[in-house]
Amino acid sequence: MKPFRTIELRQLSGAGGAEITGVNLADATDEAIEEVRRALREYLVVTLPDQPLDDAALARFTSRLGPFGLEPFVEGDESHPNVIAVVKEADEVKRLNFGGNWHSDWSFLETPPSFTLLHARELPPVGGDTLFANQYLAFESLSLGMRELLAGMQACHSARRPYGPQSHLADGKHLRSMKIKTGPEALAEFLHPVVRRHPDTGRSALYVNRGYTIRFANMTEAESAGLLGFLYEHSARPEFVIRVVWRPNTLTIWDNRAVQHFAVNDYDGYRREMHRTSVLGEKPLPASRVGGAAG
Ligand code: SIN
Repeated sequence: MKPFRTIELRQLSGAGGAEITGVNLADATDEAIEEVRRALREYLVVTLPDQPLDDAALARFTSRLGPFGLEPFVEGDESHPNVIAVVKEADEVKRLNFGGNWHSDWSFLETPPSFTLLHARELPPVGGDTLFANQYLAFESLSLGMRELLAGMQACHSARRPYGPQSHLADGKHLRSMKIKTGPEALAEFLHPVVRRHPDTGRSALYVNRGYTIRFANMTEAESAGLLGFLYEHSARPEFVIRVVWRPNTLTIWDNRAVQHFAVNDYDGYRREMHRTSVLGEKPLPASRVGGAAG
């Protein structure tokens, strides 16, 4: 692999992830930003400690990666509408946290975000880590027969489970400090390929998730449940997982086209506040021709 010139990098796990040091994101050169992008292509998740960014600086840095993504069910900050606060209060005990389920951000949109950026503002003394699962590895480790089958399929995604009128979040008892909107607009459905090709790397990644995938195209939910259940278990196998342990002022960026993530809810009694932005992505591309590798 070509060495990096402007950043230092330490791989986090066998499945990828990299800690990047030696760069100050508030005034990074174009070359450093290009190297952060390359690290994202190679490691899928990058985490940068000691980046004291306020919302204006977080928004500024995000726009160096591309146009802002849409934030359909969480309202942004008044002065920085593209920055959303992800908060669980200390007294929200035995309550849902935001993102506490394997998912790929906003996969029910026509153009889900390419990258998400999450900046740690206040953390519990221990816990509140975020897990990521490498979906290239999830796809590549399936049998040839399964890869061929999945590469020809589409699945239906919807926000209805977390954000629909019947959702747990609709009762107002969870995440009271977050500006979450629930309602009938969450019932909309969108079809995406089950295996998506990354526009920059050309690699194929599994693209179904427990949070938002409802069923396969042209099948009922009951017919889809067996295979989807297998894929959900498979996609989060321990050997695909990268764990990010936060410190205040850590910024983590991930590629939603290649990983799913899960916010661990193990810090009842403590407050956790993170600020999040996203970069607009493309319409998911179908997989390239399947072949090779183990059968
Ligand atoms: C998210 O799903 O974006 C939240 C992740 C986290 O809070 O760790």
